[in-house]
Amino acid sequence: MTPSSEPIKAEGWVRTRRDSKNVSFIEISDGSCLKGLQAVLDRSRFSDKDLEDVTTGSSVVVEGCLVSSQGSSQSVELQAESLTVIGTCPQDYPLQKKKHTVEFLREKAYLRPRTNLFGAVTRVRNTMAYAVHSFFQENGFVYVNTPLISASDCEGAGAQFQVTTLDLENIPKGEDGKVDYSKDFFGKLANLTVSGQLEGETYALAMKDIYTFGPTFRAENSNTARHLAEFWMIEPEMAFCTLEGDMDIAERFLKYIFSAVLDKNAEDMEFFSRFVLAGVRETLEHVIESPFEHMTYTDAVKILERHNDRFEFPVRWGVEIQSEHERFLTEEIARRPVIVTDYPKDIKAFYMKMNDDGKTVRAMDVLAPRLGEIIGGSEREYRLDVLKERMKELGLDESAYWWYLDLRRYGSVPHSGFGLGFERAVQYVTGVANIRDVIPYPRYVKSCEY
Ligand code: 4AD
Ligand code: MG
Repeated sequence: MTPSSEPIKAEGWVRTRRDSKNVSFIEISDGSCLKGLQAVLDRSRFSDKDLEDVTTGSSVVVEGCLVSSQGSSQSVELQAESLTVIGTCPQDYPLQKKKHTVEFLREKAYLRPRTNLFGAVTRVRNTMAYAVHSFFQENGFVYVNTPLISASDCEGAGAQFQVTTLDLENIPKGEDGKVDYSKDFFGKLANLTVSGQLEGETYALAMKDIYTFGPTFRAENSNTARHLAEFWMIEPEMAFCTLEGDMDIAERFLKYIFSAVLDKNAEDMEFFSRFVLAGVRETLEHVIESPFEHMTYTDAVKILERHNDRFEFPVRWGVEIQSEHERFLTEEIARRPVIVTDYPKDIKAFYMKMNDDGKTVRAMDVLAPRLGEIIGGSEREYRLDVLKERMKELGLDESAYWWYLDLRRYGSVPHSGFGLGFERAVQYVTGVANIRDVIPYPRYVKSCEY
């Protein structure tokens, strides 16, 4: 901001107030940037009575001119000509001027956007959401809204929230003693979606390159710093595209949204580097400049097996790579993001394209230092017979996926896609340790406050 002779109007919430004999200083924040605006009130013009209600948390409108500041911590300040307190704020306001823990602030989730930390996270999240759309729009992708209520389980993992209007005190049952879903709202069992991928595929096989960006829901009983029950996912899907193209888009996409934050949120990134995670900004710069590492699951396991004494869960071929292993690969071996490919079929979803070895699938996970998996994706099985065989192997009911199978009958084509967990990406960029602090109202096991 630069000084101006025209009066301006500042509307916001009082962060702090300091009084000296002749002047009072009020720091006003309106969330537009990290630093508040300092308003200076000449005490010969404003009485004690005028200032009585100017307390931390109160909302005010101050009019005056911006002048160069004599203070060292801001370049301009507002020389107040008028002051109106709109909403008073009593002493029990929880955000008094002192450092609060993130745990405390989680309990006050309706007020935490007024803190420096959550203001910065909110602005960065906004930049990233906008960049998601810019990236795909600039690259010719079409934005598709896939349904949130779904009758199919994309990941086949059974971690779904059921959607029902049945009276739970009086559930209709059939003669076989099972719930009679024909009486339910949709006439069948329905759930909140875990992923928009399957529906996304149907649009990719018409529009070629599409993406979704919406909420997804998982009833996983995972009480960790990286899991939410409701999170946002970005899922591009590309027709005429193999795993190589998929990985290329994933890398370019991540670098694009990271760069957008460095460009637009310099002040917020400085804040994260100073108060949240030392060096987080430099790490991001480094990630943008260097190519991601690539390795197959089989090679990753060979590396990890040599260090099995360090892990809580020892690794051998065939087991899931856990977050401790993902962190080891990215932090100690590659020192940058790693894309692991060609996982064993038994630990991946039914829709992934089978490799010729019959044991592994064309899957890829992008692993990031500190967090582990942030992207999961694959080339899709586009051969009807192979897909049917795989579903049979896994005991999946073909009739529940009839349209997905039909897609392989009507002009099937190699296609690929991935899902980025939006909150994990925000965590990575900001350095915030717990995923519950990068979404406004986190939902997780035993927690649905607000
Ligand atoms: O690896 P996932 O389960 O992949 C899919 O859902 C595919 N259908 C995506 C696709 O190919 N279109 O989930 C994708 C990403 C993960 O890498 C992770 O970043 C995030 O979603 N994720 C979660 N984020 C927060 N809380 C959870 N419980 C998450 N589960 C997955
Ligand atoms: Mg995954």
